[in-house]
Amino acid sequence: MIRNMIALVALVIGFTVVAHADDKAKLMTRGQQVFTEYCKTCHQANGQGLGAVYPPLAKSDYLKNTPMPQIIKEVVNGKSGKIKVNGKEYNGVMAPLPKKYTDEDIASVITYVYNSFGNSGPTVTVADVKKHKKK
Ligand code: HEC
Repeated sequence: MIRNMIALVALVIGFTVVAHADDKAKLMTRGQQVFTEYCKTCHQANGQGLGAVYPPLAKSDYLKNTPMPQIIKEVVNGKSGKIKVNGKEYNGVMAPLPKKYTDEDIASVITYVYNSFGNSGPTVTVADVKKHKKK
């Protein structure tokens, strides 16, 4: 009886881990689509940025050191003004994200950026986006 219960608990835990990994894979796939369709124009295919205007996302210390809620706000609502990324100053304008992108698209693309281009960041959930996207 106890043995069966342990087996059942192990099964449930195993299933939860797999389901979670699955969620992340889904976010990464969709995130890459959104990135390619939208963010790439400015931040470039490998997230290396472009010239003096578009800062890199690849190994960006700004991305790493800024709390996730603020990154969500900036990607959704846009960002302007002086910032320093990897020792270089930028003073450009990132427009707000077009309204056609859903909360799931937003969670996906930020998860993708956090976990691509040599970055290692968190997984962003739809709940995180709902909670933090407002200005
Ligand atoms: C039209 C060009 C443009 C597009 C499209 C764009 N960005 Fe940006 N992004 C910028 C600019 C310019 C800045 C710097 C703003 C400043 O100087 O304050 C920036 C800054 C950032 C930053 C913070 C700085 C850094 O390099 O770490 C992040 C993170 C970011 N963008 C993510 C994204 C994501 C994710 C997308 C797609 C959903 C995206 N951007 C789409 C132009 C763009």
